[in-house]
Amino acid sequence: MSLLEGSNLRKTYRLSRRTSVEALRGVDVKIAAGEMVAIMGPSGSGKSTLMHLLGLLHAPDRSDGPAPGLWFDGTDAGSLSDRDRTRLRARSMGFVFQSFNLVPTLTAEENVALAAEYAGTSRGAARTAAREALDSVGLADRAGHRPMELSGGEQQRVAIARAIVNDPTVLLGDEPTGNLDSARAGEVLGLLRTFNRERGQTVVLVTHDPEVGATCDRIIRMRDGRIVPAGRPLGPRRPNQATFEPFAARQRRGPPSTGIAGPPH
Ligand SMILES: Nc1ncnc2c1ncn2[C@@H]1O[C@H](COP(=O)(O)OP(=O)(O)OP(=O)(O)O)[C@@H](O)[C@H]1O
Ligand SMILES: [Mg+2]
Repeated sequence: MSLLEGSNLRKTYRLSRRTSVEALRGVDVKIAAGEMVAIMGPSGSGKSTLMHLLGLLHAPDRSDGPAPGLWFDGTDAGSLSDRDRTRLRARSMGFVFQSFNLVPTLTAEENVALAAEYAGTSRGAARTAAREALDSVGLADRAGHRPMELSGGEQQRVAIARAIVNDPTVLLGDEPTGNLDSARAGEVLGLLRTFNRERGQTVVLVTHDPEVGATCDRIIRMRDGRIVPAGRPLGPRRPNQATFEPFAARQRRGPPSTGIAGPPH
């Protein structure tokens, strides 16, 4: 059975009454326990949105079409109360993001311990677990440092320690190596690979980096809010995936602003 499974996952962001973006257009996905999977695809193709749904951070749309399904380890995530979903996420999932998101006023150990306490561990046990987690990412000697006193690669390793401190079933990363040079990226990737191999933790990584993709067991490719079936060549990309207001209404309003500043004159 799959550890993570989603069916008919849709997500539309409404920007105004007339404008919306279909970030996910009906995604079916299965990730087996113990897999290390990369989610790749062009910017805006829905990778982060899919990761947020799989990580139970956001809920799929229920409004149109067949009802979505989302299961984690046999549990129907859609049937959980907010409280149970939060608890499941805290205990069974670890997240790593591109920006390290550490609390600047706390030491590395306190940052990691916070995640353990959040999952229900007592303060003392959380400190012990934090030191072990920092040791497992090679940062035992940096436990007392605040984020500003750490390099980018070290901060991301603290974030990984925080993600694994509760011994989660799955680690979800959204471009976890995106802010790192290739040597530091290699270290972070190596750690995730080690946790996957030695602890059997399932790893799901959103990445733009082909080398990260090549390290994973499988690549899920996305395009325009859909998963590209394996083996199918990527066709030309649609110029814009936003569903804009009707042409006539646009004419009445004048040309839309791109929202992107032009080059300085
Ligand atoms: N909160 C939001 N409100 C409105 N639109 C959003 C929101 N989040 C994402 N989108 C839009 O949904 C689409 C998919 O976004 P998503 O962040 O999933 O893409 P992505 O594949 O992760 O891209 P990138 O590689 O740039 O991170 C994009 O067109 C984006 O602009
Ligand atoms: Mg993204």
